[in-house]
Amino acid sequence: MKYKTIGILGGSGFVGQHLSALLDNKGYQVRILSRKADKHPELSLIPGVSIESGDAFDPDVLKGFFTRVDAVINLIGILNEKKDNGKEFHRIHVDMAHRIAMACETSSITRLLHMSALKADASKGSSYYLRSKGEAEDWLHHASELGLEVTSFRPSVIFGAQDRFLNRFGELLKLTPLVFPLACAHSHFAPVYIGDVCRAFMVALDNPETIGRRYELCGPKTYTLGELVQFTATSLGLKRLVIGLPGFLSLLQARILGMLPTKPFTVDNYRSLQTESICTENGLPLLGIQPTSLESVAPQFLGNNSRKGNLNVYRKQRHYVCLGKHLR
Ligand SMILES: NC(=O)c1ccc[n+]([C@@H]2O[C@H](COP(=O)([O-])OP(=O)(O)OC[C@H]3O[C@@H](n4cnc5c(N)ncnc54)[C@H](OP(=O)(O)O)[C@@H]3O)[C@@H](O)[C@H]2O)c1
Repeated sequence: MKYKTIGILGGSGFVGQHLSALLDNKGYQVRILSRKADKHPELSLIPGVSIESGDAFDPDVLKGFFTRVDAVINLIGILNEKKDNGKEFHRIHVDMAHRIAMACETSSITRLLHMSALKADASKGSSYYLRSKGEAEDWLHHASELGLEVTSFRPSVIFGAQDRFLNRFGELLKLTPLVFPLACAHSHFAPVYIGDVCRAFMVALDNPETIGRRYELCGPKTYTLGELVQFTATSLGLKRLVIGLPGFLSLLQARILGMLPTKPFTVDNYRSLQTESICTENGLPLLGIQPTSLESVAPQFLGNNSRKGNLNVYRKQRHYVCLGKHLR
């Protein structure tokens, strides 16, 4: 084990919580920097994980955090911004990447694992989200000229306990009787299991052959959004007819829902969905990981998203890790 203490930025979120549990189980010490550590008591359930409060945009905070770790994982990301002008995406993704690279240099951190997104592209991305993700990824890989050893991951949508994709559709389906009108129902995805994404990070961490590489991460099968929502309804035992909205109504729905404080669907999300989220070359087998099917795990976690359920998932997850059931 070359790196013992792993610092995770954005480690309090969906991916970070699963990844922390896996790294802890494999004997790593995990430190998480969060804007509000006390909002994440569930992380204190994991013995080798500590979480501290601090603003990752403050160079002194970032440098101080990096001096206490051996390698860094960047998971910081947003899916929506307040105004639809790309500025917040740029700040959270691109400016953050610059700050991370600078703090790595001053703290003598060389190893960085970076979370990007499938179809992220600085110039051709179909949304502000995808362009800013692409720019951040490119920038960090260019920083390898300064001695930074970067590996990036480009997942399609990720599913698993506490995801905000299938679980969110599950909540909406429960509130919508009989007919469920769905925007962008013909968009394509190859959803990838959270356990496989976390294993990809773990396998890459100590493997020098992954330095400089960008891994696309996909599940074994491609679905339309309509099929995924219908699958969610069936898994929850709900009889719903999922009806795809035509383009102009999908955009109208994005405009309306994007005005809500929680922004469940925005115009920028709509733009992202115009690009197929399917791998050109799936990185999971390249990393020795067999992609897990949606059908084999999703019915177990759908409908079990309560706080108590979440805590049980962690307990079970530790058990799974120990048993080597999902995460070898
Ligand atoms: N989930 C997916 O399906 C999916 C697919 C492709 C790519 N990704 C990427 O994977 C990464 C993790 O995704 P996730 O689903 O785990 O997201 P998440 O649950 O929303 O977590 C995102 C993390 O980013 C941090 N963050 C957000 N705004 C921040 C800010 N202004 N300053 C500092 N930190 C900030 C948050 O940390 P604190 O609130 O603790 O500060 C949070 O822990 C993201 O980069 C995302 O774009 C996710």
